[in-house]
Amino acid sequence: MKPSKPPSPNACAERSKTDDRFLSSVGLHQEVTDHKKRWSVVHDLAVLNCRQVLTLATRDLGIVADGALHIRDGRIVAAGRRAEIEPVLTPDTEIVDAGGRIVLPGFIDAHTHPVFAGNRADEFERRIAGATYAEIAAAGGGIRSTVRHTREASADALLAAGRRYEEWFLRGGTTTIEAKSGYGLSLDSEIKILTVIRQLAASGRMRYVPTFLGAHEIPDEYRGRSDDYVDLVVREMLPRVAAEKLAGYCDVFCEPNVFPFEQARTVLRAALALGLGLRVHADQFTADYGSLLAAELGAATADHLESSTPAALAALHAAGVQPVLLPGSVYQLGSTRYPNARRMIDLGMPVVLATDFNPGSSPTASMPMVLSLAATQMRMTPAEAITAATIHAARSLGRGHELGSLEPGKLADFAIHDCDDYRELAYFFGREPALAVYVGGTRVYKR
Ligand code: NIG
Ligand code: FE
Repeated sequence: MKPSKPPSPNACAERSKTDDRFLSSVGLHQEVTDHKKRWSVVHDLAVLNCRQVLTLATRDLGIVADGALHIRDGRIVAAGRRAEIEPVLTPDTEIVDAGGRIVLPGFIDAHTHPVFAGNRADEFERRIAGATYAEIAAAGGGIRSTVRHTREASADALLAAGRRYEEWFLRGGTTTIEAKSGYGLSLDSEIKILTVIRQLAASGRMRYVPTFLGAHEIPDEYRGRSDDYVDLVVREMLPRVAAEKLAGYCDVFCEPNVFPFEQARTVLRAALALGLGLRVHADQFTADYGSLLAAELGAATADHLESSTPAALAALHAAGVQPVLLPGSVYQLGSTRYPNARRMIDLGMPVVLATDFNPGSSPTASMPMVLSLAATQMRMTPAEAITAATIHAARSLGRGHELGSLEPGKLADFAIHDCDDYRELAYFFGREPALAVYVGGTRVYKR
């Protein structure tokens, strides 16, 4: 393994102090000997005493009883049985005692909208009284309401809000999110949002995969002139986003009354020509619409799929497009029309689960909540749901080679969860089970 720059000695002393406080507060303990406080060239870390390590290296979660992890310089050296890992550790290895709890890869949340100002608790109350999401949007609320607030907000205010939500993701055991723009809908505001995502990523507490979603809605000043807005997206926004490498993917909200098929295709083709990968908000309300476009263009993912018929699923399957299911938005909109996960799994599709964190349809950053919904509402087994939230999600972001499972050479992004058995992640609901979360071998969250 290539040694990377060691953290500063101060960072180490800091970490040891907080680790000790944390571990004693949750009944775990950590041994740090004095000489280890001087950082050697490599940072050697081991997690021992794990009732289960879920490596996700095999189809059946790769469960190792009495497991352990060995990490060097932020990458996995070994994930396996404690009896095999412990003997090769040296006195320089920093030891984390998992306290007999379970360890698994950090969740990869492959569909979120985390940078916005304000929230829509007022609309939530109106929906409870009977207004629909579509009616509120048609009356100028919904996404456009969040756009007005987000345009007004400074980058610093958005960054502060983004850091607050980052904490919520980490609390659920998430270590990577796909983060969409889409509440700016002008050149400057979209760039502002993507720059905030870049700043969040730079702090290194959580990983971000940025997606440009300029075609999320028609902004107020372009109502009735949607072709002109599509021109703006294609001629000004996309080239700038690509030139400044502000996003790796482009997404479009493809619906007849938002961006219909032809307009969505125009945007996605332009993105493809600039080298961006494609993701599509597809079939959320209208059957076999965005999904067919995603299949035609060979998008990485088609997301939502609540209204898809078996024909559309077959088309996605044939085209190798991964389905990203967002049960949080079905739940929050008070609907019961969940996507047909069982059919997708039976077809052999590598289903992905994500929160769709946003201020309107899905105000949750909790992957454990999504696992619960997947199990109870879509009849996904806990093992299927965990696979969908880790390795399948990593592959959908083109990061399957370094994220999503605990295998030698991969990045050491993992969580220790307060469970005796992995099924409890989906079984207990309404709690955040993560005790500690690590990104690149560094602890970024503690309960
Ligand atoms: O995925 N449907 C479009 N976009 C989001 C909702 C955004 C919002 O309501 O602010 C979604 O559900
Ligand atoms: Fe979304």
